[in-house]
Amino acid sequence: MLKIENHDAPIGVFDSGLGGLTVVKALMKRLPHEDIVYFGDTARVPYGTKSKEAIIRFSQENTEILLKHQVKMVVVACNSSSSYALPTLKKVFDLPIIGVIRPGSKKAVELSKNKKVGVIATSATIKSQEYARTIKEFDRRTEVLNQACPLFVPLVEEGWLSRDVTEEVAKIYLSSLKKAQIDTLILGCTHYPLLKDIIKKVMGPKVQLIDSASEVALEVERLLTKMNLRNKKKTKAKYSFLISDRPQEFKKIAKKFMGYELLGVRHV
Ligand code: DGL
Repeated sequence: MLKIENHDAPIGVFDSGLGGLTVVKALMKRLPHEDIVYFGDTARVPYGTKSKEAIIRFSQENTEILLKHQVKMVVVACNSSSSYALPTLKKVFDLPIIGVIRPGSKKAVELSKNKKVGVIATSATIKSQEYARTIKEFDRRTEVLNQACPLFVPLVEEGWLSRDVTEEVAKIYLSSLKKAQIDTLILGCTHYPLLKDIIKKVMGPKVQLIDSASEVALEVERLLTKMNLRNKKKTKAKYSFLISDRPQEFKKIAKKFMGYELLGVRHV
């Protein structure tokens, strides 16, 4: 592994579009002194419906863009990229790279009492079976029930976070998981934390929801501390957002993700 000595370098985060802002938000909260460079591939979103080969190629190109900004580590915020591209990225690039599948899976295994964990994600992530494989790695006895929810991403991007139609769609997608009596549900897609209230309402109070974003932030903190790469400055962190298409549109929807207007958005 490359010896990185620049504590002050930013953390690089990429996603297929703007959903990865849920991870950025969690990182800002957990690590307020770390600078962040975010790349959102809005020109090629969604990844969740693409092939494994395309997702790997896009993810490599995204990592190269972040490397031009001298990042000290890369966080793959996109679940679809994490599912398919992580082994390739780790092989090709010589810096710490973490995805979102492991932290969420670990937390689910820790929390589930009846050993029945549900995973909801894009079609690509579910097809990869990466969550099921990783959960089994932590605990072979845990049963994993998968459900792709392809309509959730467009509903979130439309801002329909609490509409009746969204609740109806959630009821249909989640009915088999409810019937199977899972006690823990992984929100395995960048966009789903924004549907937490509806998902909670449909699944009922006994099901715990795992938002991978906060688990990832915790994992980033652990890794930076272990590698002695924490930013030692105590000044306010700098954030930049690089977007491959339609930055104005990104800014508009980003406001819903972050709760405030983003500064430092650039088209690349
Ligand atoms: N970021 C993607 C994920 O977490 C969701 C959006 C997309 O399909 O690209 O899987």
